[in-house]
Amino acid sequence: MNDLEKYFYENNKRLVYKLTNYFEVYDRHFSRFRNKEITILEIGVSQGGSLQMWKEYFGDKATIYGIDIDQNCKQLEEENIHILIGSQSDRTFLREVVKTLPQFDILIDDGGHTMQQQIISYEELFGHVKDGGVYLCEDLHTSYFLSHGGGHKRRGSFIEYSKNFIDYLNAHYSEQRSLKVNYFTKNVTSVHYYDSIIVVEKQSREKPTPMKTGVMSFEPQTPSKGRIYRGIKKSFVVKRINKMLRFVRLKSFLIK
Ligand SMILES: C[S@@+](CC[C@H](N)C(=O)[O-])C[C@H]1O[C@@H](n2cnc3c(N)ncnc32)[C@H](O)[C@@H]1O
Repeated sequence: MNDLEKYFYENNKRLVYKLTNYFEVYDRHFSRFRNKEITILEIGVSQGGSLQMWKEYFGDKATIYGIDIDQNCKQLEEENIHILIGSQSDRTFLREVVKTLPQFDILIDDGGHTMQQQIISYEELFGHVKDGGVYLCEDLHTSYFLSHGGGHKRRGSFIEYSKNFIDYLNAHYSEQRSLKVNYFTKNVTSVHYYDSIIVVEKQSREKPTPMKTGVMSFEPQTPSKGRIYRGIKKSFVVKRINKMLRFVRLKSFLIK
């Protein structure tokens, strides 16, 4: 049992509401930030229990911000825990948040969980996560709830939206204009999917360099799969061109 699980199961402070599989995921991606001077934002304060849990887990040097639409949450502020009242689907409010708060090491979206809320929060706040930081959105199962604007492969669900991240991550290899290198390609190292959670890890990076080290063991005898494929493809294309040239009686232009 990790420290977060221990805290959760022994909790007699403010109410925390999480799925039981979350603690392993949190610990896997958050443990490197413990006892460091970090800034965290959690969208969705509710009874304030998770903010207290983060405070205990990350230690006294962590500054924790919470956002909630419910005005009552303001009273849950305490040392190192600051609460802002506003909606995570209100772009004007979120832009104000970006202007006023320092960049975040960790951002957790545990707010209203509708598709619009998750997408807008991501679009407005992802850029305000530090280089080396983590963006985590939870309760992704709502992407399958019709009531929340989700549904299997339904356009506009956060799961469908986030599937594009896989392409952005690999955009350096795209040969089509429909997929270009973007901010995500240049600033994200990995995307992790878990039951109901997505974790995006940020780190600025260049296109990886292909490289070989060590000594060759033997000269390859057979052409590589790629060469065979290109060979087949080429002869196929050449045959078609020659057929066409013969058809229009341009034999002198035949490709040998
Ligand atoms: C699942 S609860 C948060 C639970 C809390 N993080 C915990 O672990 O104990 C969701 C919270 O999101 C808030 N919420 C709902 N819609 C919101 C919105 N549009 N903007 C900000 N917060 C919202 C609700 O008021 C509620 O307090």
